[in-house]
Amino acid sequence: MGSANLSAWFPEWASTFAPGVDMVFYDLYFVGLIVLILTVGLAVTFMFAFRRRSGDPEQVPAGGLNKCLLGAWMLGTIALGGFAFMAGLGEFVDSTVPPYDSYAIDITTREGAWDFAYPGGYVADTLRVPTGKPVLLALTSEDISRQLAIPAMRVQQAVLPGRTTETWFEPITPGTFPIYSGTFSSVRYDSLPVAMIALSEPDFASWLAAASDIFAGRTMAEVGEFLYVAQGCKACHSLDGSKLVGPSFKNLYGHEAVSTDGRTRKVDAGYVKESVLSPNAFVVEGFQGVMPTFDGKLDDRKIEAIVAYLESLSDHGEAGPQEDK
Ligand code: HEC
Repeated sequence: MGSANLSAWFPEWASTFAPGVDMVFYDLYFVGLIVLILTVGLAVTFMFAFRRRSGDPEQVPAGGLNKCLLGAWMLGTIALGGFAFMAGLGEFVDSTVPPYDSYAIDITTREGAWDFAYPGGYVADTLRVPTGKPVLLALTSEDISRQLAIPAMRVQQAVLPGRTTETWFEPITPGTFPIYSGTFSSVRYDSLPVAMIALSEPDFASWLAAASDIFAGRTMAEVGEFLYVAQGCKACHSLDGSKLVGPSFKNLYGHEAVSTDGRTRKVDAGYVKESVLSPNAFVVEGFQGVMPTFDGKLDDRKIEAIVAYLESLSDHGEAGPQEDK
């Protein structure tokens, strides 16, 4: 896998940047080589050409100024410097300006762990990217400053606390490419335990759909349990009968709820749905109406999953057989 490359000095060309970035290296290498040959070559030549021979007079008259030679030397070195600058300029501008339609992945690091958040809200501990389209990495650190580098993409970016830095690249070939990170105080870059995986666009789309589908491989009650944690119900509703900000979920389903204004309702699917979407329609006696609405955050299927979860936490008769999907 992977495409051609100029030499064994570099990893394969796996992003659109790679050929250009490698070219900059060779351009600078070439400029350096010319300067080396000129200075060392002339120094050695002059050593022999102007060495003191026997019979030379003690006092050598200073030679005249050769304006042509002086001019050529100045113009030549300026041209070399200009060439080195121009060689890098295009690549630099390209790599600092992400295309507006880039696929943006938010990356957060703390204590050496990395979180990759995809546009749909799915957060994973692996970096997967689609090929053939610009990928923007928005990076931030929750502890110290670090560097993140993906050599096959030819990108390297500082990851700083309290601000978001960006880098982008366009992967051209599917494959697995190592990611390295280091701190500013360390000489060594360590490879991350997880490599970056580039997938063709359709493969990427189906991976993301499957990975971010919370229903895949879970029963409805398990999805409910997942949402109980992921949506933060946990902060206000206990599972062991103890009273937190809100009533415990233990034995809640199927029991008779009493509101602050004396109404009673049986806790069934319809009541749970109402509680989640408009919590203040029926504020439970002994509690404050502080539950936020989950309207827009939980669709019908997710609410069904929460209902299944509440049923599984309850001994109140009639809960019926657990539905599995
Ligand atoms: C900020 C705290 C808070 C969060 C978060 C919260 N709730 Fe509540 N919830 C309450 C409070 C307080 C009540 C009781 C007052 C009321 O009925 O509005 C309540 C009541 C309920 C009731 C009715 C309970 C009864 O005894 O009849 C249900 C069902 C419920 N919440 C489900 C959820 C679910 C599901 C979530 C997560 C998706 C959630 N709540 C998140 C505070 C919260």
